[in-house]
Order: sequence, then structure tokens, then C-alpha cells
Amino acid sequence: MRVNFTVNGRAQQADNVWEGESLLYVLRERLGLPGSKNACEQGECGSCTVTLDGVAVCACLVAAGQVEGREVGTVEGLADGDRLSDVQQAFLDAGAVQCGFCTPGLLVQATDLLDKQAEPSDVEIREALAGNLCRCTGYEKIMDAVRLAARRKSGHA
Ligand code: FES
Ligand code: FES
Repeated sequence: MRVNFTVNGRAQQADNVWEGESLLYVLRERLGLPGSKNACEQGECGSCTVTLDGVAVCACLVAAGQVEGREVGTVEGLADGDRLSDVQQAFLDAGAVQCGFCTPGLLVQATDLLDKQAEPSDVEIREALAGNLCRCTGYEKIMDAVRLAARRKSGHA
């Protein structure tokens, strides 16, 4: 099966895709985009979070055939060349990255939240990130990072 779709604004084509293959596999193994991480492969950890037509999803749960003609956004699309996005910079500045395995998924999920809700409450941040597991940080630095990104985005920092 051939799949045509758009990733981070660029048309992409994957050939010889097996019907049961996941979007995560296609991104990582066929398109050379390893930013989306594979930790659980069953929708439990959020490390593979991408956007599909503007909605955050677990790429490990999306069948490759489902993305035909659609728009996927990955962590590789957040930075503008060498310039990190506000959310990426905030994660660095707040010290919210340790081993980094969860970070790509958190960045995509937090970006999706702030695109939809510029000044989220702590409860809204926790709800948005509830599907993204981190084994390292204890989450407080991650909360700090999203608050910082929100303040910067709205011009309050
Ligand atoms: S690898 Fe997709 S949710 Fe864990
Ligand atoms: S920084 Fe290690 S899992 Fe989150």
C-alpha cells in the first residue's frame, strides 16, 4: 500500500506500507523522523504524540492508512530552523528535560494546548498532559515550563 500525506507542511509518500503498520513506524522507520518516540506502543505513555489535522494523537495508535491525504505535525516541525519554538525554549529554561525520552511528546502536546488555550490554568495544563508520562522529572518542572511558555506567548514574561 502507498500512503500520501503531509508532514510538517511537506508532502510525503511511503511505499510498501503494511495495513497494520502504525503512523509512528512510518514516521520513524520510513521517513527518517525519529523525534516521535516509541516507548509503549499501546497508547499509554504519550511519547509518540503528534498532531493529525490539528488534533493531538498517539502516533502508535494511528494506522498508517488512516493518514492518507491528511496533515501530520511532529516535534521536528516545532522549531524554525535553528530557532526553537517558545515551548521548546521554555522546557530548556525551566529545566524540564532530563533523559528527554518523554520530551518530544510533551512538546507537541503542550504546543497543542497553548495553540488552543493561550492562558491555561494549572488544572487545564495537568489535564492536557495527563496522557504524557515522565519517569524523571516529577512533573513540577514540566508544569513550570508550560506556565513559562504561556506567559511568554501572552507577553507576560
Ligand atoms: S508509544 Fe505511543 S503512547 Fe506510548
Ligand atoms: S525526562 Fe526522562 S522520561 Fe521524562
